Amino acid sequence: MICVVGLGYVGLPLAVRFGLTEKVIGFDINSERIEELSKNIDSTGELSAEELEKADIVFSTNPKSISDSDFIIVAVPTPIDESKQPDLRPLLSASKIVGQNLKPGAIVVFESTVYPGCTEGDCVPVIEKESGLSCGTDFKIGYSPERMNPGDKVHTVDKVVKVVSGMDAESLDLIATKYEKIISAGVHRADSIKIAEAAKIIENTQRDINIALMNELKIIFDLLDIDWRKVIEASVTKWNFLEFSPGLVGGHCIGVDPYYLADISKRLGHSPEIILAGRKINDYMAKYETSRIIRLMIDKDIKIKGAKVVILGATFKPNVSDIRNSKVCDVAHELASYGCEVNIYDPHVKEMKIFGYDNEEIESPDFVVKAVNHDIFEESRYDYGIMDS
Ligand SMILES: NC(=O)c1ccc[n+]([C@@H]2O[C@H](COP(=O)([O-])OP(=O)(O)OC[C@H]3O[C@@H](n4cnc5c(N)ncnc54)[C@H](O)[C@@H]3O)[C@@H](O)[C@H]2O)c1
Repeated sequence: MICVVGLGYVGLPLAVRFGLTEKVIGFDINSERIEELSKNIDSTGELSAEELEKADIVFSTNPKSISDSDFIIVAVPTPIDESKQPDLRPLLSASKIVGQNLKPGAIVVFESTVYPGCTEGDCVPVIEKESGLSCGTDFKIGYSPERMNPGDKVHTVDKVVKVVSGMDAESLDLIATKYEKIISAGVHRADSIKIAEAAKIIENTQRDINIALMNELKIIFDLLDIDWRKVIEASVTKWNFLEFSPGLVGGHCIGVDPYYLADISKRLGHSPEIILAGRKINDYMAKYETSRIIRLMIDKDIKIKGAKVVILGATFKPNVSDIRNSKVCDVAHELASYGCEVNIYDPHVKEMKIFGYDNEEIESPDFVVKAVNHDIFEESRYDYGIMDS
């Protein structure tokens, strides 16, 4: 039997996919999450009630529910702390729970995004200590990074090639065969767990750096008073130009994962230049865009102090409801620090307040900032200000 530990954006779709072919235990420490899932409700909006209903999953907060499983997938968060260092607490706590409830002979596959070496160096010792079992003889370990894209109904779990790895040939084979059953796009067998970990982390690091370059170019083009969109429109006509757009980089992956790579790199004696420069510029963009908004308001003779500003969109990317690590939060706080009266309007977010601001459209705002390109805003009654990227 399969057990998925951590039923968030990554774990739940996986559990549901496996639940179409075999019985699955879905374990999470969040009792509210388990309660909603037991009623076939997914508040992340990734899966419908029908999809949940079709899957053979028993949801539980009881760690003992893990103990009958011979294939355990761990998909818990890997955030950073306030000083932008990897915060492994959820991962280590999940490893502890798995260790305390591990059936001899089981395979544990980690899906959480980590730096190369973390699965074997950080998680395995915890599992061994808690279980009293020995990795390699009593249980096996593997790593298979998740590439899902929340809100994307095209590149769903089954349609993207899955990188799989195992601690030895036997475990690799078992893990690959398991995933092949649910991934129609097939699997890529990585040579080692470290290679699979590294493959995932560079996908997001590369994306972060490419966006950082576009952000820096945008700043230069703003100074030159030329439209970055028109520049890119011209540049993409060359076959090998890579098309990226500037923007606020938030969320729990692109803006976080490079710090995991930077951390292991520094610990090994190399302080990464490009990776951290990319992070620095992307983190600066909220401040930069706010200063542009203020300048534009001054140009339009809008009195800054007390100006009613509506920010359209709060999520970290278009057409999702996830506001975790969204840089729109920084823009809102920056504007408020200038004395603006800020409202955020995001119909994808169900809460009445977002980052402490009322979530509502208001009559006759002084200025409107379109921060997230939700499709729904195409119909909006407002004229937009800037940041409509
Ligand atoms: N969301 C994405 O788009 C995405 C894509 C690829 C990779 N990832 C990676 O996958 C991992 C999971 O991300 P996510 O977005 O699904 O996170 P999430 O926050 O949506 O879900 C994680 C779930 O794990 C649960 N959890 C936390 N600690 C636990 C524990 N000790 N035991 C059991 N459950 C626990 C939480 O309650 C939550 O329901 C992260 O490493 C992330 O970087 C995410």
